[in-house]
Amino acid sequence: MDTRIQDLIAGGTDTSAVTVEWAMSELLRNPGVLAKATGELDAVVGHGRLVTEQDVPKLPYREAVVKETFRLHPVSPLMAPRLAREDASTGTYDVPAGTLVFVNAWAIGRDPTLWGPTAAEFRPERFVGRT
Ligand code: HEM
Repeated sequence: MDTRIQDLIAGGTDTSAVTVEWAMSELLRNPGVLAKATGELDAVVGHGRLVTEQDVPKLPYREAVVKETFRLHPVSPLMAPRLAREDASTGTYDVPAGTLVFVNAWAIGRDPTLWGPTAAEFRPERFVGRT
């Protein structure tokens, strides 16, 4: 098979399945969030049809649920490795050229200095109204 097709299948299947599984788990663990998400779907889509792509912009709470799932459960916790091509600095880090860099997305997503004292909790509200 064409390697580009293989890349799309490898990159797009398990990532999506695992993320949906985490989202469902968090909704079951947080009944208040589930009620808000289903309430939004009932109000915007109703019970007579399936959700379509046209509904997506009208479902901001659903979007916040997805973002909150990505924050707490990144499927690639250390991201893809990067090689610094030149000396760089970011925040308190100096990164000499040639350094292999792993960004810990998992730790960033749970850092209370960034997300506050509720960093470990599943609260989609933190993303409502934020792009
Ligand atoms: C929830 C779903 C997904 C998640 C969480 C996810 C996550 C990621 C992450 C973290 C990277 C590495 C980005 C980087 O560090 O440079 C990546 C790259 C990539 N993803 Fe996904 N992905 C998802 C869905 C998909 C889908 C549906 C496809 C294809 C149909 C796909 C195809 C790719 C490809 C081809 C790359 C490599 C891009 C490049 O390096 O040029 N992904 N994805």
